[in-house]
Amino acid sequence: MKQHIVILGANGQLGSDLVTICKQNNISFTPVTQDDFNALTDNLGAKILDKISEVSHIINCIATTNVDGCEANSDLAFNLNASFAYKLAQLCNDRSITLFHISTDYVFDGTKTGLYLETDTPNPLNVYGLSKSAGDMAVKMYALKYFIFRVSSLFGRAGASGKGGNFITTMQRLGCERDTVSVIANQITTPTATLDIARAIIHFITNNIDDYGIYNCVSSNSCSWYDFAQAIFRLSGLDETKLHKADFDGYSFVAKRPKCAVMSTAKLSKYYQMPLWQESLNEYFSIVK
Ligand SMILES: NC(=O)c1ccc[n+]([C@@H]2O[C@H](COP(=O)([O-])OP(=O)(O)OC[C@H]3O[C@@H](n4cnc5c(N)ncnc54)[C@H](OP(=O)(O)O)[C@@H]3O)[C@@H](O)[C@H]2O)c1
Repeated sequence: MKQHIVILGANGQLGSDLVTICKQNNISFTPVTQDDFNALTDNLGAKILDKISEVSHIINCIATTNVDGCEANSDLAFNLNASFAYKLAQLCNDRSITLFHISTDYVFDGTKTGLYLETDTPNPLNVYGLSKSAGDMAVKMYALKYFIFRVSSLFGRAGASGKGGNFITTMQRLGCERDTVSVIANQITTPTATLDIARAIIHFITNNIDDYGIYNCVSSNSCSWYDFAQAIFRLSGLDETKLHKADFDGYSFVAKRPKCAVMSTAKLSKYYQMPLWQESLNEYFSIVK
């Protein structure tokens, strides 16, 4: 079957980089934005898929990603991150489409010593993580041909539309506006470029990989948010002495967060090798001036 990819959430942070990678590789695709299709109210089959002759893959980048916002709006979180994933799984089965669904490290509680594997049991700490975990379960239980890519701490040119930017743009703004910028130094994460995730997904599709299941898809090394902020300040030419170390345990989050939910990329690396986050950050700065 000829490959044609439908990208849902095509103007989001990850979705827009998938569009870029598809264009660069001359891949046949249809970008779908919220203006074309509202996941809360519209029928994807009738509104989009019936108008395209053959669809081989759907990549679902639709989500509500504001972690604190989900605590106050759990209906939206479950409708978009879980119920829609369930409907999508069924629709993909009916039409023999392979589904790529995007998940998160926030399905874990961060208490594991060592790296999280795809086989570890989720134990989310907040509504966002719970809704994403429910979405994963729906895809895993109901979709016949699926990949769930678990990603973490995304940065991309578009900035997360649900968050109004990304960590890089926030640091750059605070670095200009404030005399001191406090960043947590003992919460460990894996900053991951949306361009790299897009490349990994398109590699799976173009190489006809059919080893379905869950894959952690993050940079191949991790760091503290403070380390990440320091690198951003350096590359932005901002005054690094403005940065101060904050303590995770003394920080009052609206939604609880995992202190260290670093995921292993060993399973993914059988098919695709993710770069170091420093390499991806350098690439980001070479593109975004
Ligand atoms: N951002 C992170 O740091 C992070 C970390 C871990 C996992 N993830 C996961 O990675 C995936 C991509 O995240 P991202 O940063 O690219 O998110 P994003 O930029 O916020 O993109 C979300 C997309 O969903 C669309 N959308 C929202 N509500 C919709 C609706 N009712 N109908 C149709 N489309 C709707 C948005 O459209 P509009 O732009 O028009 O609103 C946007 O294109 C998500 O599954 C997220 O859970 C993200």
